[in-house]
Amino acid sequence: MTAPDDLLVKAPAAAIARTHCTASQYDALYQQSIDAPDAFWADQATRIDWITPPTKISNWSYDPVDIKWYEDGLLNICHNAVDRHVAAGKGESTALIFEPDSPDGEVRSLSYAELLTEVIRMAGTLKKMGVTKGDRVTIYMPMIIEGAVAMLACARIGAIHSVIFGGFSPDAIAGRIEDCSSDFVICADGGLRGGKHIPLKANVDAALNKTPVRSVLVIRHSGADVTMTDGRDHWYHEVSQDVVSECPCEPMNAEDPLFILYTSGSTGKPKGVLHTTGGYAVWTAATFHYAFDYREGEIFWCTADIGWVTGHSYVIYGPLQNGASVLMFEGVPNYPGHDRFWQVVDKHKVNIFYTAPTAIRALMREGDDYVTRHDLSSLRLLGSVGEPINPEAWRWYHDTVGKGALPIIDTWWQTETGGVMITTLPGAHDMKPGSAGRPFFGIQPQLVDNDGAVLTGATSGNLCITHSWPGQARTLYGDHDRFVQTYFATYKGKYFTGDGCRRDEDGYYWITGRVDDVINVSGHRMGTAEVESALVLHDKVAEAAVVGFPHDIKGQGIYCYVTLNAGIEPSEALEAELRAQVRREIGPIATPDHIHFAPALPKTRSGKIMRRILRKIAENDFGSLGDTSTLADPSLVDGLIEGRKAR
Ligand code: WT7
Repeated sequence: MTAPDDLLVKAPAAAIARTHCTASQYDALYQQSIDAPDAFWADQATRIDWITPPTKISNWSYDPVDIKWYEDGLLNICHNAVDRHVAAGKGESTALIFEPDSPDGEVRSLSYAELLTEVIRMAGTLKKMGVTKGDRVTIYMPMIIEGAVAMLACARIGAIHSVIFGGFSPDAIAGRIEDCSSDFVICADGGLRGGKHIPLKANVDAALNKTPVRSVLVIRHSGADVTMTDGRDHWYHEVSQDVVSECPCEPMNAEDPLFILYTSGSTGKPKGVLHTTGGYAVWTAATFHYAFDYREGEIFWCTADIGWVTGHSYVIYGPLQNGASVLMFEGVPNYPGHDRFWQVVDKHKVNIFYTAPTAIRALMREGDDYVTRHDLSSLRLLGSVGEPINPEAWRWYHDTVGKGALPIIDTWWQTETGGVMITTLPGAHDMKPGSAGRPFFGIQPQLVDNDGAVLTGATSGNLCITHSWPGQARTLYGDHDRFVQTYFATYKGKYFTGDGCRRDEDGYYWITGRVDDVINVSGHRMGTAEVESALVLHDKVAEAAVVGFPHDIKGQGIYCYVTLNAGIEPSEALEAELRAQVRREIGPIATPDHIHFAPALPKTRSGKIMRRILRKIAENDFGSLGDTSTLADPSLVDGLIEGRKAR
């Protein structure tokens, strides 16, 4: 089979010359990681400092599901991300650089020694507020240095952070606070994105009307007017005044929880994915080292927000554990102009740039001039994450941004995997535009058909992972059954990713997208069930079915079929109300692209909505609707097609 993919892009000579890991080293290390995983991961664990080094390396089972790594080890990940670099004489080197939303705003830069001081101040403040080991602390912040400091401060004292993306609504915040019974919130007064003010504190206030907490720590950033509730809300710059200048790192067992991060699933409310300390620390340290081939002194920029797992693993824990200099950017790719990313790369002489295909597509559309007017010669490596990158966008990234000379890593992974699982390694592997590449050390992908039969060789199927890895999520907070059901029940004894995938003759993996009712909108995971729940909350809505459809920029857009209660007529006003309803329930990132009012939804005779058909219609693919004879009312389909064509 010759696929279009087999247009190999050779690893650039410069990447080969400098890599930490050559092709033959990858082969040997990968083999070791499969043949003797415990020896391999014992070795990788020495990347970080342990208070008590582990003697037990892995202890896991997928049936029943019980996952432990380094279970008798003690460590603190904040020590590994901050203190130890200072102790090793690297206190003066740059840890974080903050680039604000507006190019005229003030850049802030923190050395590792300064970061340590800040983290101690925040950790001491949290302790003073009564936060203790194991408490859940909700963080709702813009992309500012204090966001990083808040996460590290929690880790330092053994509190479990739950970061919520600043684009989520008060209702979404309330749901997440309630789910993990979090008593503490850290937020900023407001954030700035593309010149627009995000009312973070006001959103928290609205959430807390539904679900009260003990204390809120407020960081002054945007200068917005906010309401402070006596006894509950504290300005950080005030309460941190008299905290002691010492706050030792809490010794954590490797399996003590580090953080909860909510993500969407195919059913029900968002799931609180739980990561623990030791395995996640080793996984993020090792994947960062190899995938980004990081060298001392380089400036690393991952454009993801700390509200997503990419921000956790590759803005904070991976790079900082490696002593890297990390750029944090508060803004957006196209403000004040379409060259903002490239202007920032030039301004800070960024060496490694990691972003999402949706941003690449949006910028590509604006033309090359925005890129070429800036000096991007500092760039050494480009990365992509979040969704499949279409070969056209890959080419543009490679040719125009990378001037045809830089390696691109297309990193496939998930909130649940903690860090990169499939990628080419720069300098070790040739690239294929659109393919993530090869499994990282210790990762054993397996493709299975819908009945669970294992498929071998070059083939397509459902992507499973057969063996645990240190960075794997351990459970869903407070709901281990749901964890088992979601990931380990479809194909018993395997971790099921929810993704479809093709493997080619060279053993390269090509992710084809979700095979469940999850859609990927601008690299963000969205449960169609969540959007449906938000729609049916409206008293005029009888029923809703939400599917994804191909979208030029977002990858997938949100297409909503809505049936109204008897006697209610569709109108533009109602459409606007429904859009607002979804934004209120979930947040602006879930805003529907299309609301298609339909008299009824196609169902089987047993009453099951035929989503396959709705998906095809939304995709404008009317030729291959498949068998519609099992529908209770096959004639409905023509009406739906007419409705789609009219849009
Ligand atoms: C889903 C996970 C990984 C952090 C960001 C998203 C899709 C992610 C790729 C990629 C193709 C990708 C998958 C996955 N995905 N990276 N390089 N190529 N698809 O994390 O929100 O947990 O979403 O994103 O469908 O299952 P997430």
